[in-house]
Amino acid sequence: MTSESRLGVVVLAAGSGQRLGFGIPKAQVLLGDEPILRHALSGVVAAGVADAIVVALPSTDAGDGAALREVVETFRAEHPGAPWSLSVVEGGATRSDSVARALTVLDDVEHVLVHDAARPLVPVQVFQRVADALRAGARAVIPAIPVVDTIKQVHAGHGADAEIAPELVTGNIARETLRAVQTPQGFSLAALRAAHEDARYLDDRQAAAITDDAMLLESRGIPVHVVAGSSYSLKITTAVDLILAEGLLEGPLAGRWVGEA
Ligand code: CTP
Ligand code: MG
Repeated sequence: MTSESRLGVVVLAAGSGQRLGFGIPKAQVLLGDEPILRHALSGVVAAGVADAIVVALPSTDAGDGAALREVVETFRAEHPGAPWSLSVVEGGATRSDSVARALTVLDDVEHVLVHDAARPLVPVQVFQRVADALRAGARAVIPAIPVVDTIKQVHAGHGADAEIAPELVTGNIARETLRAVQTPQGFSLAALRAAHEDARYLDDRQAAAITDDAMLLESRGIPVHVVAGSSYSLKITTAVDLILAEGLLEGPLAGRWVGEA
């Protein structure tokens, strides 16, 4: 791996944000004064790792993608002479489809980071740790944090048990062995492309069980390296997450996120 090796960043913003429930794409929802997508783009650029940025947006046919396209155009216009390119693709029906579509327009890069716009406050250090691991030779690298909750396996209760409570505990998983996985996830572009090529042959049930890109590479026997993520990298899924993110942005911790490791 040479220091010249170029890196692309896919920013996924083509989801509809059903669980957030604002009736507009999640990436368009304001966090503080700015759309979530704009925060995500600012984070990518502040990290200084990207040569090419590709943003997956909802279809403009449905009217949904137009405002987000404007966010991207404005961001580009604000950075004349930037050392990175910024382009847009139409996303697909699933997150994985959106990744696959974005990969079709990335060609002159050796590595790619796949990042959820729904994680708008990822510290620059996390991007850099992932990029560093790729430069050091990893073909797949994910940021993750320890799990703080005790995790139990359950199954549905039956008969008399079901009348008391809906589920029964069947087992425990040692917490020290678990990690909560975040984005950006980093890959060799060739390895990620090959993995997505394979994924085209999965049936719907198998495809639904693949919830991140790293799983696709694991199934091809490629080692997935783990670097430290951050609690600032929270994913905005429901309204509670938006309140937490507002707190990180404007509350007592405001301004500290870039310095957080
Ligand atoms: N995403 C995407 N294309 C899709 C689905 C999701 O690019 N077809 C992106 C989302 O925009 C988000 C990330 O993948 O940045 C993680 O997805 P999620 O948190 O599930 O977002 P949404 O799918 O928008 O939310 P919901 O599932 O609640 O509708
Ligand atoms: Mg979703």
